[in-house]
Amino acid sequence: MMRWRGAMLDISRHFFDAEFIKKTISALAVFDYNTLHLHLTDDQGWRLESKEFPLLHTVGSIRKQSQNNHGLLEPTYDGIEHSGYLTHHDVREIISHAHSIGIRVIPEINIPGHTGALLAAYPQFGINQNPVEVSGRWGISNHLLRPFSETFEFLTKVFQEVAELFPSEYIHVGGDESLINNWLLDPEVVAWMKSQGFVTAKEVFLYFMQEVEKIINGLGKKMVTWDDAFAFDPDQATQATVMSWRGAAIAQIALDHGREVIQGPVLPTYFDYSQEVSTTEPLAIGGPITLDDVLAFKPLQGATGVQFQLWSEYIQSPVHAEYMMWPRAAALAYRCWGDGKDFETYFGQRRAQLEALGVMIREIDPGQRVNIAHLGIGEYHRGFDTAQIMQFLEESAIAGEVAEFN
Ligand code: ACM
Repeated sequence: MMRWRGAMLDISRHFFDAEFIKKTISALAVFDYNTLHLHLTDDQGWRLESKEFPLLHTVGSIRKQSQNNHGLLEPTYDGIEHSGYLTHHDVREIISHAHSIGIRVIPEINIPGHTGALLAAYPQFGINQNPVEVSGRWGISNHLLRPFSETFEFLTKVFQEVAELFPSEYIHVGGDESLINNWLLDPEVVAWMKSQGFVTAKEVFLYFMQEVEKIINGLGKKMVTWDDAFAFDPDQATQATVMSWRGAAIAQIALDHGREVIQGPVLPTYFDYSQEVSTTEPLAIGGPITLDDVLAFKPLQGATGVQFQLWSEYIQSPVHAEYMMWPRAAALAYRCWGDGKDFETYFGQRRAQLEALGVMIREIDPGQRVNIAHLGIGEYHRGFDTAQIMQFLEESAIAGEVAEFN
């Protein structure tokens, strides 16, 4: 079987508690998943207790309100506070349950971008040291950590605490969607760059990720990053495992450069995209990504694993999260490491176990389907189709760096 059979749950954009995470682990185990990747931090929330830096969870876990329309539109907000974080006790319970059924839990602490919640707690580590609020808005932000020694000393302690809590051999450090030219807007960063002989923001990014890799490796762990951190410069990037989200071309280049690769391409592994474009579906970032899209996926030869992503900007409730996951998570398992029978037989043999757990499944037959459109954020919105999102990614500043690979 494939070595990394993964599921990613974003508990930053909306918090999902330990009970739900344990239930999800039980459901994933039915389909021989062996890895749960927890996206614990982002601009919209820091969701892990820190004994060393308590403001991370006391300040970083609370936002005043949340955007209730699509992230590419002018935002409107719900005016409702959102909060929540996992305590160390929660994490130990989650890991103990996961290990008892063959699943490892990999933490992600996202740096140097996607750091709005961190900087709301400790603004001294951010560019220009401006006051920052935990964001209620979806999309890519300008927040960026400074590349200074104080930042790396702080990150060493943060990752040390994380490494002690999570026994997994991997720590994921994000590295995606960092708007690195913002470093050039901070006079102290620019002065520091001159003193170090750095000319471009890209050089600073490479340096930043190398420093973080030293921290992670120093803790006896392997680093994982999203493919952005590799694609900036494949020849100078860190040796980290590459989690490839922008398609097979980057994944193949990473394989050719000898990196360990986990494939999680937007199409078809972003399960926050709707399964159908219809007024009966809740608001989603885009879509459709159908069951057939998932069943048609072909992993690259040489990839260590495959993983689906459940980002949660538009997903507030466990029922909604499950509706997005099932049956697509079963289809990905069947396609990538399942046995040879047809999908209906494969799923049919295991569905009673999902039902016994009380999991909400989006029925394939529309006549049997529960309509949960009203549980999503805001009014139904067609969202953006997958091609439009891919175009947006290509045109955006971060993706521009890797346009040659697409
Ligand atoms: C990602 O979707 N930014 C990994």
